[in-house]
Amino acid sequence: MSAVLEAVRPIEDYLVMPDAEIAERIEEARKELGEKVIILGHHYQREDVIAHADLTGDSYQLSVMASQTDADYIVFCGVHFMAESADILGKPHQRVILPDLGAGCSMADMATIEQVEDAWEQLREIGVLEQKVAPITYMNSSAAIKAFCGRHEGVVCTSSNAVPLFDIYLKNFDKMFFFPDQHLGRNTGAKFGIPLEKMVLWNPHEELGGNSEEDLREAKLILWRGHCSVHGRFKPWHVEQIRKQIPGVQVLVHPECMREVVDLADFDGSTSFIIKTVENAPSGSKWAIGTEVNLVNRLAKKFPDKEIHLLAPDLCMCATMYRIAPQNLAWSMENIIAGNVVNEIKVDDETKKWALVALERMISMTEKK
Ligand code: 13P
Ligand code: SF4
Repeated sequence: MSAVLEAVRPIEDYLVMPDAEIAERIEEARKELGEKVIILGHHYQREDVIAHADLTGDSYQLSVMASQTDADYIVFCGVHFMAESADILGKPHQRVILPDLGAGCSMADMATIEQVEDAWEQLREIGVLEQKVAPITYMNSSAAIKAFCGRHEGVVCTSSNAVPLFDIYLKNFDKMFFFPDQHLGRNTGAKFGIPLEKMVLWNPHEELGGNSEEDLREAKLILWRGHCSVHGRFKPWHVEQIRKQIPGVQVLVHPECMREVVDLADFDGSTSFIIKTVENAPSGSKWAIGTEVNLVNRLAKKFPDKEIHLLAPDLCMCATMYRIAPQNLAWSMENIIAGNVVNEIKVDDETKKWALVALERMISMTEKK
């Protein structure tokens, strides 16, 4: 039976198909769709999905790639906020598909637009907005929060451009309100010498985020109380332990790790920075990497001449990203062929308009730097 006729089958049927058959079906569907489809894969995706990706990258690169492709269908093997960004940046005819709708980001879910608007209102009530305050959101946030930043002279940043964007905003604003990852915010703030007492934490479940009016007035950086549960597993003692176990090891971590871990590490940077650093390292060098396990395993496989370890002994896996299996990919591709677009991610027009302002600001400010 042709893929077209079978495509109406439910996902459950695909879940029991053998891996080899699934891989073949994806490739056949790809051939049939040709340039109409593009498959994007984030660096944290599992290997059997990355094997089918046309383009791979970090969240910044993927958002730029999404804006440059002409394909009718962008199949996004990443998480929900990434697919939303692709829809915002994509062309009007393009349709973005997330092969499993359960692929979310727990960090992005730690800030809702209602909480952010309420926090902003509280800052207004105590007069803090009389200062120049810029809302900046990490890419790992909802389209609604990106739109909020777009409306209020703010911007989106990713882990690969947080430094140049902080540089611009610190020069032009009195204060920044950073959502939702406290660690990326704190680690980046520290690179500009902002002392810890000028970086206050905003707990959305407390009045004034749990701060005094005075602290909020004096703060340079207000950090939303969000974090990544995957990167939160790396602890300072992991760094100390691995240095003892492997003399000469260099520690390389993602800036979503807590401040104390980044402080002890040799290098920190985005997923692309991590890849580049390992690529350029000499043969025989030893690395302990603090980021998602699929990327670390891929690097270890790709560079057998270098000694590559995961920084923590336990499994640091982005479980939500992992939900996108080749089975979901095959199912969504064959449904496209059948004329049935499943799991489409669509941002409403008003949100899109303002989120685009914040994303385009990010891209143009990053390119200028
Ligand atoms: P990058 O911006 O480095 O791709 O990271 C995205 C992410 O979700 C890391 O947890
Ligand atoms: Fe979100 Fe963390 Fe997964 Fe990145 S690794 S997508 S921040 S849960």
